[in-house]
Amino acid sequence: MASLSLFSLFCMFSFLLGMAHAQLSSDYYSSSCPSALSTIQTAVNNAVADESRMGASLLRLHFHDCFVLGCDASILLDDTANFTGEKTAGPNNNSVRGYDVIDTIKSQMESLCPGVVSCADIVAVAARDSVVALGGPTWTVQLGRRDSTTASFSTANSDLPAPTSDLDALISLFSNKGFTTQEMVVLSGTHTIGKAQCSKFRDRIYNETNIDATFATSKQAICPSSGGDENLSDLDETTTVFDNVYFTNLIEKKGLLHSDQQLYNGNSTDSMVETYSNDSTTFFTDVASAMVKMGNLSPLTGTDGEIRTNCRAING
Ligand code: HEM
Ligand SMILES: *[C@@H]1O[C@H](CO)[C@@H](O)[C@H](O)[C@H]1NC(C)=O
Ligand SMILES: *[C@@H]1O[C@H](CO)[C@@H](O)[C@H](O)[C@H]1NC(C)=O
Ligand SMILES: *[C@@H]1O[C@H](CO)[C@@H](O)[C@H](O)[C@H]1NC(C)=O
Ligand SMILES: *[C@@H]1O[C@H](CO)[C@@H](O)[C@H](O)[C@H]1NC(C)=O
Ligand SMILES: *[C@@H]1O[C@H](CO)[C@@H](O)[C@H](O)[C@H]1NC(C)=O
Ligand SMILES: *[C@@H]1O[C@H](CO)[C@@H](O)[C@H](O)[C@H]1NC(C)=O
Repeated sequence: MASLSLFSLFCMFSFLLGMAHAQLSSDYYSSSCPSALSTIQTAVNNAVADESRMGASLLRLHFHDCFVLGCDASILLDDTANFTGEKTAGPNNNSVRGYDVIDTIKSQMESLCPGVVSCADIVAVAARDSVVALGGPTWTVQLGRRDSTTASFSTANSDLPAPTSDLDALISLFSNKGFTTQEMVVLSGTHTIGKAQCSKFRDRIYNETNIDATFATSKQAICPSSGGDENLSDLDETTTVFDNVYFTNLIEKKGLLHSDQQLYNGNSTDSMVETYSNDSTTFFTDVASAMVKMGNLSPLTGTDGEIRTNCRAING
């Protein structure tokens, strides 16, 4: 009897300990690396001042990290002779950017407080600081993620949405990660910043009918029906400002990607697009909450994973 209750006490204690470890916290580095957050913010502000698109690229990097094995910096691992990571998976290859900025920040972190700040946390904070730098909302980033020792090429191919995805596919890819349809719509609103390559929207501007004709013609001028695959177009009309114009553009049938226009195409998500188009405050509030939720996807905590010293490689 006594040993039984001692055992259950022990179980409860380990459980609580496990829970505590599993939790991220906003003050995780407040004593171990007090200047981490301000240093990251300065580096992001410099990178965005240098090239405003970098803010968009850093935000997308966080998304593509979190949707594949959780927010664990798995996307940052370079391929080697005997390891294929996520960088060459379809949604990432020659498309995801910002790796150099993360490297720069990581080397600053290693000078400040060696072995303390994870690559996954750097990516999460850089995404938030990028949105703020471009005029968007802020949110509190939960911290304490650790870095993976693995990556998954196949999961990057299966779990990330494609620009050719229809509404049903978008809803289910986000639902697979615990997001509501509304959260999928609001997170798509981050296409208010950044650019896309001709190869990702060519089909839409030549072949689709739910598109503004003048808009299609103007995009065809920079994206020929063959060639120019890497030519860039802005994702919305105010691409260096984090605002709600993306949603207004959808109502005008000026969504650049097929997947964008799917959100306003006579279906259940139309009213959400209208709400965000009419109400930038609600967009900001909802996108900030959804970003916090995205940042909390399956973090490695406690003794899982490691703190990489080089974000591109597992520790030797
Ligand atoms: C809803 C499904 C989504 C699809 C199908 C999608 C697809 C794409 C594609 C194809 C591009 C252009 C890539 C290129 O041309 O190289 C892009 C860019 C971008 N995406 Fe998404 N995306 C989605 C959701 C998201 C989410 C949830 C976020 C962030 C939370 C995000 C953030 C961005 C940003 C900021 C860019 C611009 C990146 C840059 O200029 O470097 N996207 N997306
Ligand atoms: C992969 O190769 C590296 C050397 O390039 C070696 O250190 C490592 O042990 C190898 N890993 C596996 C799993 O074979
Ligand atoms: C990634 O892109 C490069 C350059 O375009 C290409 O040679 C390579 O085959 C692509 N990798 C994969 C896995 O598709
Ligand atoms: C338009 O659709 C047709 C028929 O599916 C296809 O053959 C063609 O390649 C498409 N054009 C572009 C520019 O994608
Ligand atoms: C790429 O876009 C530029 C305009 O931004 C255009 O002049 C050029 O012709 C395009 N490239 C191709 C291959 O069409
Ligand atoms: C969306 O509506 C269109 C008609 O406006 C319909 O063809 C399509 O199947 C609908 N898609 C979904 C996912 O409901
Ligand atoms: C948004 O505003 C438009 C007018 O600009 C109005 O027709 C529509 O009902 C509004 N939609 C919502 C969901 O508030």
